Amino acid sequence: MKKIVTVVLAALLAATLLACTGCGNTQSVENIQKNGELIVYTNAEFAPFEYISGGKPVGVDIDICQKIADELGVTLTVENVDFDIIVSSVQSGKAALGAAGMTVTDERKESVDFSISYTTSTQYVITSEEFEVNNIEDLKGMQIGVQLGTTGDFTVSDEINGYEDDEGNPVTGVLQDSGAEVITYPNANLAAEALKAGKISAVVIDQLPAEIIVQNNSGLHSTELLYPDGSTTTEEYAICVAKGNDSLMEVVNKVLQELLDDGTIEEYIIHHSTEAVVE
Ligand code: ARG
Repeated sequence: MKKIVTVVLAALLAATLLACTGCGNTQSVENIQKNGELIVYTNAEFAPFEYISGGKPVGVDIDICQKIADELGVTLTVENVDFDIIVSSVQSGKAALGAAGMTVTDERKESVDFSISYTTSTQYVITSEEFEVNNIEDLKGMQIGVQLGTTGDFTVSDEINGYEDDEGNPVTGVLQDSGAEVITYPNANLAAEALKAGKISAVVIDQLPAEIIVQNNSGLHSTELLYPDGSTTTEEYAICVAKGNDSLMEVVNKVLQELLDDGTIEEYIIHHSTEAVVE
């Protein structure tokens, strides 16, 4: 009897495991069209790429995803979630696409595939108007706010904790042992509120979101984050898709290429950069 139970259990376990090998592939073009729905995960606290207007997520990434849904002939469903769960949700197949002003990084590439890049950015630092930041060294000893799990978070954390270069050799961070601390927030708008309340001294986030936060909040200003040698960070934004979901990737890249070629993405950026500023 015991043996039978074990065999049955083992068979059940094998079936579950087998079913799950296909987990990341449930969002194939075929299945999306069968379900009539393209599910996109974003974090709508990152204008102009995504922000809430009229109670729902809008922005550059949403416009792009609408075009992808149109191309597939399905309805677009946008879910507003925490930024740091987007990659794993695309990986597990909960979402077909992650579109969130997301920077292509080697670490993320281990979990998902990235489309062609549709724009670039650099990190910016927001401070109160009285505090002038010439380069990252001016942030020594400061409390620095970032959005959890973003490249701004990684950049600041690396400089505080030290990191490894491409060959695996340890590098001392510019802010190491200076008393500087990284404070993580669910999004950059909350970090900016903490900045205005005097709880932190700076916020590090991508360029356009930083500039829009400054326009929407009096008493703040922003500047590009420079290293002591004058260099900057550079980042490529792309849409992420489950690893190996090539049929969907092909559609995403085709739509992106068209929107890049005819200047539509540039138009979306200009349009939403104006729209996202509250009078
Ligand atoms: N580009 C940065 C990154 O990929 C920040 C993206 C934040 N996006 C968002 N929708 N909140 O880490």
